Amino acid sequence: MKLLLLGSGGREHALAWKIAQSPKVEKLYIGPGNAGTATVGENVELTPTDFDEVADFVINYEIDMVIVGPEVPLVKGITDYFQNHSLLRKVKIIGPSKVGAQLEGSKDFAKGFMKRHNIPTAAYATFDGEHVEEGCRFLETLSAPYVLKADGLAAGKGVLIVPTLEEAKKELREMLGGMFGNASSRVVIEEFLSGVECSVFVLTDGKNYQLLPEAKDYKRIGEGDTGLNTGGMGSVTPVPFATREWMQKVEKEIIRPTVDGLAEEGIDYKGFIFFGLINCDGQPKVIEYNCRMGDPETESVMLRLKSDIVDLFEGVAEGNLDQRKVEFDERAAVCVMLVSGGYPGDYKKGFPITGADVEGSVVFHAGTTIKNEQLVTDGGRVIAVSSYGKTQQEALAQSMKGAEQIQYEGKYFRRDIGKDVL
Ligand code: AMP
Ligand code: GLY
Repeated sequence: MKLLLLGSGGREHALAWKIAQSPKVEKLYIGPGNAGTATVGENVELTPTDFDEVADFVINYEIDMVIVGPEVPLVKGITDYFQNHSLLRKVKIIGPSKVGAQLEGSKDFAKGFMKRHNIPTAAYATFDGEHVEEGCRFLETLSAPYVLKADGLAAGKGVLIVPTLEEAKKELREMLGGMFGNASSRVVIEEFLSGVECSVFVLTDGKNYQLLPEAKDYKRIGEGDTGLNTGGMGSVTPVPFATREWMQKVEKEIIRPTVDGLAEEGIDYKGFIFFGLINCDGQPKVIEYNCRMGDPETESVMLRLKSDIVDLFEGVAEGNLDQRKVEFDERAAVCVMLVSGGYPGDYKKGFPITGADVEGSVVFHAGTTIKNEQLVTDGGRVIAVSSYGKTQQEALAQSMKGAEQIQYEGKYFRRDIGKDVL
């Protein structure tokens, strides 16, 4: 089979690494990819949101299957575009329809969906620019801290957690006034939930689903979960509190009702569903849905997926995912992200990277490129060092060795990935 994977981050390198191991793959292209994906497949200059450009490539190179890594092309409707194109209808595409992607693309849609299907989540209400005063009155009925979410995609920055009522009202006005452009023309105000978070992933064909290894990600820049939010500083799988009983509850109360709910509403969904969960005194609740895999969770989860991922993708596309087998590696996996100095604020790019082959680890590139035959930094998040271990501690120790070995100017990483859940 000839496959095209869309995207360019650490998630895509991890997916490409896993896909390339399948005996079913004749050729793997990654558009646009990065310096890491080029080692497991062929990078092609494509913009994932330029559907006409993607279509030309798929037709000319006789691609059989397209896997969509990031959310933006899905929310913009790449799957519908393929289905409505006479020459692309037969191409297998892994990723939900435009309506299905609204689970991530609109927080209000996701909350409404959960309400309709009795899926446990935080209480909420949604307001637009014409109902600012009602929004303020709703805030008065909640207690601190206050959670404000831009309805639309805001590159991971659209959620504010505000300590006082006064600030919450001010932020609400600013959000509705265009703080995140069109994305915050509507704002979801939510009850604050406290607990430990866990990311759960499934692949679904719209009827059946298969569970993938769960993971926990680390979003803050500083150790001990302090400082600014980032795109993710590391991840760990398995998650110790996600016991068999807890996961059974997650399946019964959250996953099954989600998959059935999509089917009942006639929403075409073939792809990944990412459940961002929070454990509230043993009760799992949904914080958010995403219509794609997590980053940097994928960089540890792929290590623990033993089965052929392309076989699973075929099950998704053909609607017989129940007949495919998913096996997990029993070992733990930890991913530690190396970032650029200054990130998530301003940072410089183009620094030469040395020591990027780490014995005993799998190194996934996130923001790298090749300049004059030299591997250089090309983003805020640069490289993920992922490792197996008989225990989580062992996996972390191995990733730490790699993180020390890899060198570039301004390198920074967290040393405490996974320590809070031990
Ligand atoms: P989201 O983009 O919806 O995942 O929100 C980003 C982050 O904000 C989450 O990963 C949580 O850490 C936090 N968050 C979102 N919603 C809530 C909530 N209702 N209560 C507490 N924390 C939340
Ligand atoms: N790790 C969280 C996300 O991918 O959105």
